Amino acid sequence: MKDAIRANFDVSVSAYDAYERRTGRFSALARLLYAEMAALGDGTLDTLLDAGAGSGVSTRVFADETARTVALDISREMLRGVDAAPRVQGDFDHLPFADDTFDGVAFTASLFLAPDPTVAVAEAERVLRSGGVVGAVAPLGWLTDDGTDVFEALDRESRSPTRTDDVEAALADEFEVSTGTWRFATTADDLRLFHEIPAMAARLYPKRSPDERVEKAAELLDAVDGTFEQRWRWIVGVSE
Ligand SMILES: C[S@@+](CC[C@H](N)C(=O)[O-])C[C@H]1O[C@@H](n2cnc3c(N)ncnc32)[C@H](O)[C@@H]1O
Repeated sequence: MKDAIRANFDVSVSAYDAYERRTGRFSALARLLYAEMAALGDGTLDTLLDAGAGSGVSTRVFADETARTVALDISREMLRGVDAAPRVQGDFDHLPFADDTFDGVAFTASLFLAPDPTVAVAEAERVLRSGGVVGAVAPLGWLTDDGTDVFEALDRESRSPTRTDDVEAALADEFEVSTGTWRFATTADDLRLFHEIPAMAARLYPKRSPDERVEKAAELLDAVDGTFEQRWRWIVGVSE
């Protein structure tokens, strides 16, 4: 599973960055997440681990806000784009850092990719100092005006390796958490662009090759029209 996730993101860099350039969605999520984390802690959020940093979209946001951010990602190709902070290729299930290293650990759109999020959550707790803050954002789907999931009407499920409720439960087991939902107005064109990212098209067609799954997603979404709401759950917690 981890090899598949790494391989999916290794071939997703240009499509990922194209989606981000058009929508700014991931930098918006990182900014909102940082604000929730900063509001929850004891006022010191100087050192931060960007866990699942990708091509550096979230890293740029965190590096602007902190004295020291470190970007960690399993995908070597995604990491190449990181220019705002030191980068480490690694797995957030086995963090290459000593106990009590960071004031904050942020999983911006990454923890739901873990087959078992409890492992990464325990690692986050270990590398956080006492009073440090964890934060995560995970997807709740794309909804039409009447609240129906877009993919329900298309007779297809958009599935993460781990459900967002399970991400939240894993964090709630280790930390006292606060949560909420962010809603973004979005369009059919943006929905299509999102699924041009092979790692995202894998949500619909995980067993296909990257090219095939992007092609299948384009066919599926070809006739989709109108506007939607994309929802994300945020979860933050403080380390004891
Ligand atoms: C949707 S991207 C988000 C990237 C970035 N945080 C952003 O906001 O643009 C998710 C990232 O998580 C990384 N990832 C997935 N599983 C991982 C793991 N076990 N350890 C480290 N990174 C992982 C992927 O390689 C990918 O770059």
